[in-house]
Amino acid sequence: MFLTKEEQEMCDGEYGETIRKSMDILVALGDIYGASGLVDITSAQVSGVSYKTIGDAGLEYLQDLARDGSGKATINASLNPPGTDLDNWEELGFPRDFAIKQNEIVDAYADLGISKTCTCTPYLVGNVPRFRDHVSWSESSAVAYVNSVIGARTNREGGPAALAAAIVGKTPLYGFHLDENRKANLVVNVTTELNGADFGALGYIIGKVVGGGVPYFKLQNTPDNNNLKTLGAALASSGSVALYHMENVTPEYELAGEADVEDIMFISEKEIAETRESLTTTDKEIDLVCLGCPHASLEEIKEVAAVVQGKTIKNKLWICTSVSVKATADRMGYTQIIESAGGNVVCDTCMVVAPIEDMGFEVIGVNSAKAANYVPSMCGLDVVYDDVENLIQFK
Ligand code: F3S
Repeated sequence: MFLTKEEQEMCDGEYGETIRKSMDILVALGDIYGASGLVDITSAQVSGVSYKTIGDAGLEYLQDLARDGSGKATINASLNPPGTDLDNWEELGFPRDFAIKQNEIVDAYADLGISKTCTCTPYLVGNVPRFRDHVSWSESSAVAYVNSVIGARTNREGGPAALAAAIVGKTPLYGFHLDENRKANLVVNVTTELNGADFGALGYIIGKVVGGGVPYFKLQNTPDNNNLKTLGAALASSGSVALYHMENVTPEYELAGEADVEDIMFISEKEIAETRESLTTTDKEIDLVCLGCPHASLEEIKEVAAVVQGKTIKNKLWICTSVSVKATADRMGYTQIIESAGGNVVCDTCMVVAPIEDMGFEVIGVNSAKAANYVPSMCGLDVVYDDVENLIQFK
């Protein structure tokens, strides 16, 4: 891989140990994937934040990297969800030892210049690249959104690679950074109108079929941004989709080469209904309804507030979101409506990276196909998959 003189000096340690170690990661990746060189990035989104997934070894690695003090993020960089609500962990019942370690992890990242905006929807709260920007993002639903809906360019980076890219301000130029890899290779004709959890079901079906490919959707109705983030999350969890196109919706659909695609699929109402049903793993009562996968937007919180207003919720309810979106929900009175009904707007974390299996829950109600896919495998709990109004039970 070609390196400029300055990049070579970074590799040689002339800019300090943190930058040298970061360059090691980027150059190794570039060599593996045949990158021609490094490209400047404008944004990073760094996963590998929950104590549940990175443990003590990850914490020590980050503290070591930060201790050197020679390198900090040079561009707009934010964190993925950690395993707790960083401020309200105690009142929400998160285990104390876990919460303390979790805050140490986030502090180490902050020492490396990564913002404590802990969310998988950074595009809702200030980490918003422009069309065609090169970026380095690592959470899979965020990758799908930034590539597809915004039209910026990233590969599905691992956490250490996104952190290294944030510190150096560059990433290897290969894969989805290049025009030729952004063409569609499957056309999906959806023959029915989609609503709510249908979008997750569609993404779940197509992710399995297309794997790491690029699907091109033709829908009967126009989705909103919340539908698009739900769809992308599901595509990226049952498959490893990093980019999709949607006719008349996403910014690069006319460049996707749809006319040349030979693989064509049709998805009917029946397949959507069957998939919705198959994502539920139990007929037991739901203990915790957990919404906000990917992290909820203000409109989604508003919709939940409208559903629960003036009522008392029977099961527990969490809506996971970023601290920034919650601040606006507080001002709008949505949080108070939800809390009065017995629910919580939970910041930072989510149902997959939080230690919910240690918090007394057994059955989780979700409206996200990604959560329905991961809660059984990562938390060992059952799920019920449905729309919000069917999940929440009232006294
Ligand atoms: Fe985000 Fe957690 Fe879902 S990181 S996409 S809310 S599994």
